[in-house]
Amino acid sequence: MLPKLLSAGMQNFKTEVSSFRAALAQAPAPRLRWDVLGVRRQTHKFFNYLLNEHISPARMAAAVFVGVVVGVTPFFGFHLPLCIGLSLLFRLNKIIVYTAANISIPPLAPLIMFCNYQVGFMLLNGRFSTLSMKEVEVHGFNLFWDLVLGSLVVGVIAGSIAATAVYIVMTLKARTKASAVPAQARFAEAAVALFHGFMPVSKFAAYFAKGKVLGDPVYFSLSEKVPGTASVLDVGGGQGLASLILAYQHGSGPQRTVIDWDRRKLTAGQVAAWNLDLDVEFAAADVHQETAFPRRDWVLCIDVLHYNPPAEQDLLIGKMAAAVAPGGTLVIRDMDGSRGWRTRLTVLQEKFSLWFSLTLATKIYPRAADETARALEAQGFKVEVQPCWKGTVFANVLFMAQKI
Ligand SMILES: C[S@@+](CC[C@H](N)C(=O)[O-])C[C@H]1O[C@@H](n2cnc3c(N)ncnc32)[C@H](O)[C@@H]1O
Repeated sequence: MLPKLLSAGMQNFKTEVSSFRAALAQAPAPRLRWDVLGVRRQTHKFFNYLLNEHISPARMAAAVFVGVVVGVTPFFGFHLPLCIGLSLLFRLNKIIVYTAANISIPPLAPLIMFCNYQVGFMLLNGRFSTLSMKEVEVHGFNLFWDLVLGSLVVGVIAGSIAATAVYIVMTLKARTKASAVPAQARFAEAAVALFHGFMPVSKFAAYFAKGKVLGDPVYFSLSEKVPGTASVLDVGGGQGLASLILAYQHGSGPQRTVIDWDRRKLTAGQVAAWNLDLDVEFAAADVHQETAFPRRDWVLCIDVLHYNPPAEQDLLIGKMAAAVAPGGTLVIRDMDGSRGWRTRLTVLQEKFSLWFSLTLATKIYPRAADETARALEAQGFKVEVQPCWKGTVFANVLFMAQKI
């Protein structure tokens, strides 16, 4: 039991450190009027990360619990290192833990120490202390152990009360938001959660994630269509926005895997998943070089096909088709190459992405939706093609391919 806990703690510690380093390395420099040797820039990035990590209601409550337990102990001078160490071990928000530890601020500290001492004395001696000098002479240094034992009991009780209050308030806040409104609002809430999840990566990543999932109709559409129990493979999934939304809305359970060749995007997604406690796997690979994909109920391929010539698109469709479990669904979203001005605008937007190196691809190959649909039918799918450009000027369509 103890070795298992220690090894889980060490694993948390390592992931915390690597996710922290990745987030700091990726965060763009804030705009500052002055700086000295990059110290202000690093400090901004550092606090941006600390303020936004691990802020789900359960994690906030756990952070308050640990902070109060530490704050109540008589180890003055060691509270800060204890808070940092425990936050790393248990994946908690360090600022919340340390703020809660400040329960022992000067006016409260004597009262807390008195309670600790009396509770500890009672547990070890069966009665309350008389606080006399005689008692000090008789018990000597052992009185310190009364204090330590008492502080643990008082800390656990006070920490549990504070953590329960925080959990109830934060959960109610989240629930009120979610239940007041239908699916769209719950989706908007998930988008805001993603915003916070990506914030430790960078402000840009956070605004991009939120803007993309709210502005592009495909994510809401997927959140409505993909069942919560379905396992998912997200081919060319980038930072995993679709999978993260699904994991946020339906919780852990089914396997959700994102494959992409852009390690920067994968790392950003990993940091967000870690930060929001979402169970999403990220794997680095060139999807055109993979011989086979893992089998899943739903396979998604959003805005990826057009980076390769039609023959390669067909090969990828074949591999994705093989990965769809019986009765499962393959969802492809891509531009329809036969929609006139919409297609021209979509191509232009894609060219901008290539010019500004927002994607690792080098060329685009728009293809008429009919051709893609035929390629899917040739793999034994029943295909439905729906416009997927709502509210935008683009020519994107959704291919809902059901395995028969
Ligand atoms: C427009 S983005 C879409 C990202 C994601 N599907 C989404 O909806 O957010 C296209 C993605 O395809 C990925 N991609 C393109 N060609 C790829 C390849 N050969 N192997 C792996 N990923 C690829 C890019 O790295 C990029 O993340």
